[in-house]
Amino acid sequence: MAYRVSGAIVGCFILLLVLTIGVFAKAKVYQKCPLARELDSHQISRTLISNWVCLVNAESGADTSKKVALDNLTTSYGIFQINSKDWCRVGRKGGKCNKNCEDFLTDDISDDIECAKLIYKDQGFSHWKGWVNKCKQKPLPDISSCWN
Ligand SMILES: *[C@@H]1O[C@H](CO)[C@@H](O)[C@H](O)[C@H]1NC(C)=O
Repeated sequence: MAYRVSGAIVGCFILLLVLTIGVFAKAKVYQKCPLARELDSHQISRTLISNWVCLVNAESGADTSKKVALDNLTTSYGIFQINSKDWCRVGRKGGKCNKNCEDFLTDDISDDIECAKLIYKDQGFSHWKGWVNKCKQKPLPDISSCWN
């Protein structure tokens, strides 16, 4: 009897542990400097990176797994909250970035950055409401110490 009870408890703990690891493995929250360096490595101009870091924090809290279903039946994905209406397709590659939207939820943000660069080229920072509300003409994060 005691065996069976403790076995069940251990089983529950293992299940909980696996679930917890599963959740954390998918989600990555970028800190300021690693994000700045990642953007820099994708040829984003250093003079603009503090704007990008502010934008990412405003849009997603820099959480790579952030997925938000909007009232207008579209969904926004990843740290840049890239929207499924124009930029990617659900379940297959497509949109202006020729990407599967779900790929923007992984902790590899290379594809996210490439797509965000295209959005920026097309519409500038004003495309992102988070940037307009929280970054435009506001104090930006200080990333000067990120390059050492
Ligand atoms: C839904 O809202 C998002 C974010 O504002 C926008 O990018 C997208 O174009 C909208 N989709 C439609 C179908 O209006």
